[in-house]
Amino acid sequence: MLNVYTIEFPGTAYLPLQLENGQNLSEHLTVHNSPVLFGCRTGLCGTCLVGVVGEVVAPGEEQQEILDNLAPGNPSARLACQINLSSDLQISSLTK
Ligand code: FES
Repeated sequence: MLNVYTIEFPGTAYLPLQLENGQNLSEHLTVHNSPVLFGCRTGLCGTCLVGVVGEVVAPGEEQQEILDNLAPGNPSARLACQINLSSDLQISSLTK
């Protein structure tokens, strides 16, 4: 059975999206359906920095280095392109 999760963008006019378990956000979020912008989509450029509420896998070493630079001390910061969905999420932008 496929689990479907809801992604919300609080504080924006974007409607919630529903995606199946395990889907990668960078493959499904676009400029039309979300406020999240992507660049490299491989976890290197930091363009897709977001704040996440929900269950997401802890960042790997490379991602953590980028997060430490872009959003030091923020435990909810993630690179959206590195998120494979495993729960409902609330995503917000992290502008400096
Ligand atoms: S799009 Fe470049 S780090 Fe996510």
